[in-house]
Parts: sequence; structure tokens; C-alpha cells
Amino acid sequence: MPEAYDRHLGPAVFAPFASDLAARATAYAPRRVLELAAGTGVATGALVTALPGAELTATDVNPAMVAHGSRRVPAARWQAADALDLPLADESFDLVVCQFGVMFFPDKVAGLREAARVLARGGRLVVSTWAEAGRHAFAAALIGALEQVLPADPPTFVARVPHGYADPDRLAADVRAAGYDDVVVEPVTLTGTAPSAAGLATGFCTGTPLRATLEQRGRLEDLTQAVAEEMTTRLGPGTVTGAMTAHVATATRAG
Ligand SMILES: C[S@@+](CC[C@H](N)C(=O)[O-])C[C@H]1O[C@@H](n2cnc3c(N)ncnc32)[C@H](O)[C@@H]1O
Repeated sequence: MPEAYDRHLGPAVFAPFASDLAARATAYAPRRVLELAAGTGVATGALVTALPGAELTATDVNPAMVAHGSRRVPAARWQAADALDLPLADESFDLVVCQFGVMFFPDKVAGLREAARVLARGGRLVVSTWAEAGRHAFAAALIGALEQVLPADPPTFVARVPHGYADPDRLAADVRAAGYDDVVVEPVTLTGTAPSAAGLATGFCTGTPLRATLEQRGRLEDLTQAVAEEMTTRLGPGTVTGAMTAHVATATRAG
């Protein structure tokens, strides 16, 4: 999964937001930075480049992601860790970032509160989540393709999980409830570019938890091929581009 994610989704879907995140992080000039749900290290790499003097700790609950990320971005200190139960000391970071990870936390407020615990007083939080799938050209094409390929029982994972925490007011309320001040949530729309719709289909179908859902419904290779054909019909042949909207929350740990 990490290889497929990193190759087919990293540059197209996650790298544009990693650049945005790194620019925001630079403005805070942090010395000690913690990344939650770092995955294969797409944002980690951008942070290392943007913050050459900082100590960066990158964490993810999935050891396979950590293994991949530590090879990809060795300049960061990598550690397998559940964001809801961090094996890290109180008040030990100036900045905590989490790019497209909070949607997966079983308890969002608890995860954000755990981030507040490890932040120094006045430390900053930057968290990004996806807006609704309809505001993400590639996710919308994927959902349409899944409905076409599996009309009787289309997987709901994409709309329900990565795009299921899409209300900016709820995000702001959860961040406040977790112990932060100065909470600002803003929409950020960036353009994703991929070499082909088929590559995106391979990334989504084999490099994300959608894979397990598809494996329950048939042969993964066949379903991926069918989804690739449908996504190509929707997005067109050759290089594909599309708008993707996220919500980015910034906040200060309450004193
Ligand atoms: C969509 S990926 C985002 C990865 C990376 N931040 C990026 O932008 O490419 C979501 C990541 O969240 C991680 N994750 C899910 N639940 C988590 C938890 N409770 N604690 C830490 N990481 C978690 C997954 O393992 C996965 O790597």
C-alpha cells in the first residue's frame, strides 16, 4: 500500500497541500516540529526543506508507512505512534502538523487534545482535512466510477471517511474543544495533476483502505482495471488535472 500511495497519489493529490503546509510552518519559525499521520512522508519532505534548522519528528500509526517514510525522508526522526496516545513528553514541541490524518482518528477531539498536550504553551497547530468529495475532482470521479463498477453495493469509504469530516464549523469547534485559541479554518483549493486517470485509480484502489473493501467484493486487479476505465471516461485520457478543496485549521495552544 505505501508504494502505491506514494507513487500514484503522493505527487498528484498530497504534494500541492504539502507545499502550502510547509509555507505556513515557515511563518511560525518553529524549532521542534511534530507531524502526526505522516504517511509516506509527502508533507515531511516539504517540511524538512522549508525548515532546515528545525528538529522534525514524523509519526504514523501504521508501521509500514513509517518504514517507507523513513527511507524517503531520513532527515526526520520517524516513530510509529497513534496520534491519540503519543509516546512523547508534555509541552515538547513548538508546532504540531497533521495533513489529511484527523479524519481517520476514531475520536477527533481526543486526538487534537493529545496534540495540545505535547505542544508548548503558545505552540501552534496546523491541521488539514478534505472538503466534501464533490469539491475534489479526482475523488468525485472515483466515487462515480465505483458506483458504475459496483452498482449494487458501491463502497462508501471515500465519501464517509477521508471526505466525511468536511464541515469547517465542526472542525473549528473540535479544535476549540481540544484546548486551542485563535482558531481559524480556511478553505484552500489547489490543482492536482496526474499522468493519467488510470494511475489515480491504481493509487486509490490499491494504496488506500479502499483496497480492503474492494478485496471483499472481487478480484482487486479486475476491479482496479474497471475503475481505471471509468475514471478515464470521466477525467479524459493522458495527463489529468483537477481542483481539490481542503480545510486548513490553524490554532494556538491555549495557555
Ligand atoms: C491520507 S493519509 C495522509 C498521509 C500524509 N499526511 C500525507 O499527506 O500524505 C492518512 C494517514 O493517517 C494515518 N493514521 C490513521 N489513523 C491514525 C492514528 N490514529 N494515528 C496516527 N496516524 C493515523 C494512516 O496510517 C495514514 O498514513
